[in-house]
Amino acid sequence: MTVSTQDRSALIPLLQQVQVEMGYVPREAITEISRELRVSTSDIFGVLTFYAQFRLTPVGRHQVKICQGTACHVQGAPLIIDAVEEELGLGDGGDTTEDGEFTLEKVACFGACSLAPVMIVDEDTKGNITPDKARRMVRKIIKAQAKKSAVSKNNGEMKNE
Ligand code: FES
Repeated sequence: MTVSTQDRSALIPLLQQVQVEMGYVPREAITEISRELRVSTSDIFGVLTFYAQFRLTPVGRHQVKICQGTACHVQGAPLIIDAVEEELGLGDGGDTTEDGEFTLEKVACFGACSLAPVMIVDEDTKGNITPDKARRMVRKIIKAQAKKSAVSKNNGEMKNE
């Protein structure tokens, strides 16, 4: 069975709603929507994979966005992407670290081309980025995260004493 225009008009807003609420569309939601709309899960997967806006896996706690638009590309965005992927240990097309801390997203254009190349880490936008600057931004978060973990671990141990 293929998804009719009518089914699709109900399906896409529902999937968008799930995505907004959860940051991705989990398997359980697909099953539930399938039952609700009487559309097969494979048809829903077809829609999810057709539209780039949908994610099937959770996003990391920290989001790194690197522009790969023309201006940024010309100014070295591919080298920045390589540096960040290496720093985060991302490979084989994966965009999220195994520990779920970081998601790397390659974006078309932030509309700040005069600052090219541009990278955004969470809410922090940086222009004229270099591979070294990009690595430092990522390391700073990893360091802060490690510090936070150590403090909460110590607090947990003190409570248990
Ligand atoms: S091309 Fe990168 S901000 Fe426009």
